[in-house]
Amino acid sequence: MPGPLRTRITQLLGIDHPILGGGLMWLSDAQYVAALVNAGCMGFVTPRSYAGEADFCDALERCAELTQGKPFGVNLTLSHRPEANAAVPRWMEAALAHGVRIFETAGHAPAELIRALHRSNAIVVHKASNLRHALSAERAGADAIALVGMEEGGHPGANELPTMLLGALALGRFSVPVVLGGGIGRGRQLAAVLAQGLDGVLIGSRFLVCEEISAHARYKEHLLTCDEHATVRLLQSLGSTWRVLHNETARQVQALEQAGARNHAAFGDLLAGTTTRDRCYAQGDWQHGMASLGPSIAFAQRIEPLQVIVNELVAEAVQAITALPALVAMDSMDSMEKQ
Ligand SMILES: Cc1cc2nc3c(=O)[nH]c(=O)nc-3n(C[C@H](O)[C@H](O)[C@H](O)COP(=O)(O)O)c2cc1C
Repeated sequence: MPGPLRTRITQLLGIDHPILGGGLMWLSDAQYVAALVNAGCMGFVTPRSYAGEADFCDALERCAELTQGKPFGVNLTLSHRPEANAAVPRWMEAALAHGVRIFETAGHAPAELIRALHRSNAIVVHKASNLRHALSAERAGADAIALVGMEEGGHPGANELPTMLLGALALGRFSVPVVLGGGIGRGRQLAAVLAQGLDGVLIGSRFLVCEEISAHARYKEHLLTCDEHATVRLLQSLGSTWRVLHNETARQVQALEQAGARNHAAFGDLLAGTTTRDRCYAQGDWQHGMASLGPSIAFAQRIEPLQVIVNELVAEAVQAITALPALVAMDSMDSMEKQ
């Protein structure tokens, strides 16, 4: 059943609500992505989270079962290190072979990947933190753009601009639908994005406390105590900005960076994603691992089903939008037009 907010992104992706759940390393598994889809949103399985192609394919099959055939997406994030992208064509082929037709692309130099996906009749939502990169992705054929501001959890690139400003700068510059991400966690923000003339939102951090995210309950309980100052942006000096939970690992990384460390090797194992997976997410030991997180975690109050969070976002957005006309004094509009 389509929801009350219908935009070009709900139409393009065939979803009920103009809400996308961005791919989450280690966490966008079948259970979470299916929860997004079943709540009327779109989600993306992250192949990099799996030990190998067979495990990734198992996740795709499980997700198809859980969504009972409703379309879901796959995230293809391109690294700036070519050797880290060797498996991307195989992940793309595996996803296509499993019937996936919606992709979130992100990262370095995506034009060739976008064109390859198009040749296979896929729909591409390209995520970018910079208008210039987003415009070139549109030229390469992206069907929609997700613009993410410096508030986003994870890797916002070198961008220093906040989400709201990026959204306003995007107006009139794209012919494809544009959604905004980074710092979004309330329905009133969704309403503001739609009022800006854009097509929806992309969310990561706010959804981390939903029941369907596989992280340990101790981690989620810690997230409930976080306010908007609980995250920190690190590694700007290496050109690979990363917004994470301000925990013990982040403090050690910050100290090394401030002391002049300028390449990944200088941080030893501190940046290892497997530490985040094994200690933070699997054991709930939230002090250890670089745990991608943005300040919108401050909006999380409870661990609850994703559907409840989505319903609340949509209801609040509708309430905000329906209250707006009362703010417009029509008699004054008439006199402005006559002037
Ligand atoms: C835990 C976590 C892991 C993420 N992993 C990825 C990833 O692997 N690929 C990607 O394109 N984006 C990744 N992101 C970014 C999200 O897809 C999304 O763009 C971001 O969370 C939106 O901003 P928000 O966190 O302020 O809602 C990650 C974000 C978080 C919080």
